[in-house]
Amino acid sequence: MAAKLKIVLTIKLPEPVETRMRELFDTTLWFDMSPMPRDRLMSAAQDCDVLVTSINDRIDAEFIAAAPERLKMIANFGVGFEHIDIQAAADRGIIVTNTPGVLTEDTAEMTMGLVLAVSRRFVEGAGIVQKGEFSAWSPTFMLGRRVFGKRLGIVGMGRIGQALARRARAFGMSVHYHNRKPVSARIAEDLSATYWDDLDQMLARMDVISINAPGGAGTHHLLNAERLSRMQPHAILVNTARGQIVDEAALVAMLRDKRIAGVGLDVYEREPAINPELIGLPNAILLPHMASSTIEARTDMGDRVIMNVKTFQDGHRPPDRVIPAML
Ligand code: 8YV
Repeated sequence: MAAKLKIVLTIKLPEPVETRMRELFDTTLWFDMSPMPRDRLMSAAQDCDVLVTSINDRIDAEFIAAAPERLKMIANFGVGFEHIDIQAAADRGIIVTNTPGVLTEDTAEMTMGLVLAVSRRFVEGAGIVQKGEFSAWSPTFMLGRRVFGKRLGIVGMGRIGQALARRARAFGMSVHYHNRKPVSARIAEDLSATYWDDLDQMLARMDVISINAPGGAGTHHLLNAERLSRMQPHAILVNTARGQIVDEAALVAMLRDKRIAGVGLDVYEREPAINPELIGLPNAILLPHMASSTIEARTDMGDRVIMNVKTFQDGHRPPDRVIPAML
């Protein structure tokens, strides 16, 4: 049997995942609900073979340069990897893995939920009842907008974008998308999806925009002030991908000036900090980065981390490797 790898967790994981990790590896758990502070992270890396990280950890070039020879693998708990300097890790021969696939449906579910919740004003309505302000029904009370028959523009048509498209079709929406390249003809046909190579053109024509692209330098402020201003005043924007894709200050200005009708956000530019001007806007539904927060997804993500580390421990190439060619 191969010697057990020494692994350090920088976040608290679901208990069954942690227990299995203790069985398989020489595992140091992190019991705090808040993430490991940077100085602890730096010192933890000094004495382990594998670091199990999350979006909270900044694994930049400085961190990689300070890592000892012993650190062989960074097994990220999460699919996004823009917080890890993949090139610097590759240059040092450190393997990086992520957890693709297992949170796709959960994230798409939450995204569709936000499309419905913003369009039909769920949160405002619930607030009225909670405050005891529901005094009379009237035909013009709490008017929202129907999603049936509307155009949804998906920015980023990967796994999550496609899972959202399937749901949107079931709600009677027509699917449009912008992506680096078109999806295969079979997928486009299955989803009756229309490809827009020009994002500006798509933004100007949609009723709902959903961002489902990966984060990182390539998509930073992809929706800047100019792009956002192309959206129609009745349109809504949903973002469950990465906050840095949208210029948050420009978005606030658009909402304030009623140049778009509403937003549903699960992610923020300077997360966990949220632009104070967003809070309290009646047409903004703000969630605390919880799109993949189901017991099923979080357990599957943990299993995926285990599979990657165990494969490595057994002397094989972990299946979910992230390599510079994927950037
Ligand atoms: C995770 C996510 O909760 O997997 C991702 O990339 O954005 C989230 O759903 C988080 O990143 C875990 O590290």
